[in-house]
Amino acid sequence: MNPTVTWMRKHWLRVAVHMGGLVPLVLIFWWLATDRFVIDPVKLITLRTGRLAISFLLLSLTCTPVAVVTGFKRVLRLRQPLGLWALAYTILHFLTFVGWDYRFDPVLLRIGIFAQPFVLVGMGAFLLLLVLGVTSLPGLRQRMGRAWRWVQRLVYLASALAVWHIMWVRKDPWEVWRYPVLLAILLLLRIPQIRRIIVRVRRRIFARN
Ligand code: HEM
Repeated sequence: MNPTVTWMRKHWLRVAVHMGGLVPLVLIFWWLATDRFVIDPVKLITLRTGRLAISFLLLSLTCTPVAVVTGFKRVLRLRQPLGLWALAYTILHFLTFVGWDYRFDPVLLRIGIFAQPFVLVGMGAFLLLLVLGVTSLPGLRQRMGRAWRWVQRLVYLASALAVWHIMWVRKDPWEVWRYPVLLAILLLLRIPQIRRIIVRVRRRIFARN
């Protein structure tokens, strides 16, 4: 068989994730380059990058429940690329705020951050995502041994902080209810007792067919 076809058969899911990450990025840059008129482009890009970041983060947390419910284990390999796209969009979100909005001015930034404490919560999430990104490098992963698994659990704290940040940005936090609700469902599905029940039900259904 053609080696490209063989490679695609093996890696199509990863390719799809990277395409899903790249397309909005290209659209953002294309949109900026074509100089479209918008009343507040900084706000728009902050919102777009932030929403992309949280979407990839929640998608990375969806892989384990999908594997538990369907038994399709290959989906687990997508956790890392999805998490890295969440980090990439968080970096862009951060740079839009620090560089574009506040021109890297430390005095303005200090005022901006303390006037909007939700930014501090966002920064907490960002730092944790950065730790997760760095520790996912292959060399470090092996060197860290068992500690690596514990560090990976920081993703739950990072997600909770990110959701808190997003709800705090809004005057009415429940306008963005879907984020805490989704996160709560994804975390519930990780509880070992619930996982066991799902696996048992799935096996029974497949045994019948
Ligand atoms: C690096 C630290 C962060 C900074 C400095 C930051 C800054 C901001 C600012 C200033 C806004 C308000 C935009 C506006 O209404 O004008 C915002 C909104 C938002 N941020 Fe962040 N953020 C950070 C981290 C994060 C992280 C880690 C996520 C998600 C993974 C995130 C997701 C969002 C989302 C989705 C919104 C829009 C909420 C809405 O729909 O109104 N942010 N952020």
